[in-house]
Amino acid sequence: MTRTALVTGANQGIGFALVAELADRLGPDDLVLLTGRDPERVATAAKSVHGTARVEGRVLDVTDADAIAALAAELGRTDIVISNAVGPLTPGVPPAEQVDEFAAVANGGTHAVLRSFGPTLPAGGRLLVVASSLGSRGHLPAHLRPLLDGVTLDEVEAVVEQWREAVHDGTAAAKGWPEWIYVPSKVAQVAAVRAVAEERRPRDLADGTLVASVCPGLVDTRASRPWFTDFSRAQTPAQAARPIVDLALAPLDPSTYGELVRFGAVLPWHSGGPVD
Ligand SMILES: NC(=O)c1ccc[n+]([C@@H]2O[C@H](COP(=O)([O-])OP(=O)(O)OC[C@H]3O[C@@H](n4cnc5c(N)ncnc54)[C@H](OP(=O)(O)O)[C@@H]3O)[C@@H](O)[C@H]2O)c1
Repeated sequence: MTRTALVTGANQGIGFALVAELADRLGPDDLVLLTGRDPERVATAAKSVHGTARVEGRVLDVTDADAIAALAAELGRTDIVISNAVGPLTPGVPPAEQVDEFAAVANGGTHAVLRSFGPTLPAGGRLLVVASSLGSRGHLPAHLRPLLDGVTLDEVEAVVEQWREAVHDGTAAAKGWPEWIYVPSKVAQVAAVRAVAEERRPRDLADGTLVASVCPGLVDTRASRPWFTDFSRAQTPAQAARPIVDLALAPLDPSTYGELVRFGAVLPWHSGGPVD
């Protein structure tokens, strides 16, 4: 049967490598949709992938929940969905100046993909959210952790909103939110996946469907370059894409269901500690 895969934020970095890896490993009748917010960057990137499967570029700004809903409805059924988009963060720029766009892309985009594409997954489908090992709950102080534990997607969304407002009114640090906005955003992404997975778990486990978040490890990309100095052990995007596509194409391992997975292994939700 023909399969359709879709990757958000795919005109560069890990998203582009995910498209290339999927195009290599899916069949000639399958379709991989390379999506991104800028028409020219999307078209150029889509033309540069030469795999086995067909690759088509589609403009999709993940801050536009209606556009995500419309594309999900148009496709009707999407076998593999990878929510990957992230906006750049610049060191030294005050968090209040960056949090809106960052949360709109990483969190708003993830919520919209979960809501609109979750129902379109067929039996055996895959919905993966590219998060980070910094997305485990232990990276928040103990008093904030219950906010994202055992909650619904609507509740995760409300917590993201409270955090965003706290960044704006200057109370985030006093409330215990890590100053690097990447961290609360990534914990909330993982919590959003857990919330949706919890609702779908029995049916998905019965029919081999996987909803999970993934950590690619350290990868040399636009997003990571400003934040790290030592890239000697960083992966290329192509290297990072392989284990994520392995997870997308392998039979379901129920122990990974709803969890944060890095290189095929589950990173416990309760793990992690304060981040510099
Ligand atoms: N790199 C790492 O070491 C690392 C480690 C852990 C987790 N991750 C995660 O891996 C994922 C991919 O990161 P990356 O390192 O590959 O980042 P990247 O190279 O900066 O690529 C991010 C992609 O997201 C797109 N994007 C930004 N805003 C968008 C929007 N509104 N709508 C649609 N697409 C949008 C960008 O498009 P434009 O080109 O148009 O800006 C770009 O294609 C992220 O979730 C990131 O947090 C990365």
